[in-house]
Amino acid sequence: MIRFSGATPSGRVHLGNYLGAIQHWADRAEYDGDLYFVSDLHAMTKRYSPAQLRVLTRELHATLIASGIPADRIFVQSDLLAEHASLSWILECVCTFGEARRMTQFKEKSKGENGVRLGLLTYPTLMAADILLHGAQEVPVGDDQRQHVELARSLARRFNTEYGEVFTVPRAVTPPVGARIMDLAEPSRKMAKSSAEAVGTIFLRDEPEIIERKISRAVTDSSGIVRYAPEEQPGVTNLVDILATIRRENPRELAESITGYAELKRMVTDAVLDRLRPIRKTVEELLADQAELDRLRANAAELAAERARPRLHAAMQLAGIG
Ligand code: TYM
Repeated sequence: MIRFSGATPSGRVHLGNYLGAIQHWADRAEYDGDLYFVSDLHAMTKRYSPAQLRVLTRELHATLIASGIPADRIFVQSDLLAEHASLSWILECVCTFGEARRMTQFKEKSKGENGVRLGLLTYPTLMAADILLHGAQEVPVGDDQRQHVELARSLARRFNTEYGEVFTVPRAVTPPVGARIMDLAEPSRKMAKSSAEAVGTIFLRDEPEIIERKISRAVTDSSGIVRYAPEEQPGVTNLVDILATIRRENPRELAESITGYAELKRMVTDAVLDRLRPIRKTVEELLADQAELDRLRANAAELAAERARPRLHAAMQLAGIG
């Protein structure tokens, strides 16, 4: 079984990324053919700072290792630039303009923006290339990436039918709880990297006091009763989801066992701090040893490239190039 997924260093890693995705990547008893990666090429679709991108790439790389994924299973996308970019172009020539334009994330991120970069439109084909290049069978992601995995499925099928069988048709796997963690201050929108100064986003490297404050100020409601009710009590439900995901428990049963909002917030704070403490410590250690991080990165890139190249060459042959 090949499980494959990635995260983009377009901002600091937050609790939504961790609970919706990274925790599940790190939760494997055996890694079989699993592969995870830092999708730094995906962080270039809007104006960005190159120096900042390097820093965030290192931080995300260190975070994935610190979360418990074996270091030889985590590569950085731009280390395989030739392979990913080549397949991305092939798939751009398989994807229709209409398909790309219909992607929800493109519509949301381009709304009201001037000078939208072409990469923002074509990034789902790069994502399809990531997935198909590595022969992914399952792609563990949060809710917001499902549509992109669907596109990868369509492109795999179309290529296989038009040019010849080479790609595995992947499927998205989302966790039963925690696939959509909401902003603590505005529980109607998802927790996101872009809300940099926001009080509603918990970043994995936030100081414990900051995390405590953000949770204590999380928006609830005036009912005073802890219930699992996403529509009526989105703030409370989000806190229950966070707790249930960390503890791997059923959120409805968990909600019934908690008596009030103060107790709920205390439990969430303790669970989040306990989970993040060792991760933070290891991230700091890894970031302090750049040479070791570079060595791990180069080793993982070599392994990933070796695995990917035969599939790329087979696809090129079928596409009549190379
Ligand atoms: P990214 O970096 O936006 O998010 C990384 C993972 O975190 C999940 N996620 C969330 N889960 C729950 N609640 C939230 N509030 C929340 N916010 C984010 C995302 O669903 C994702 O699983 N394009 C991808 C990276 C990528 C990729 C790939 C993933 C590039 N190529 C190929 C899988 C396969 C992205 O930007 O994820």
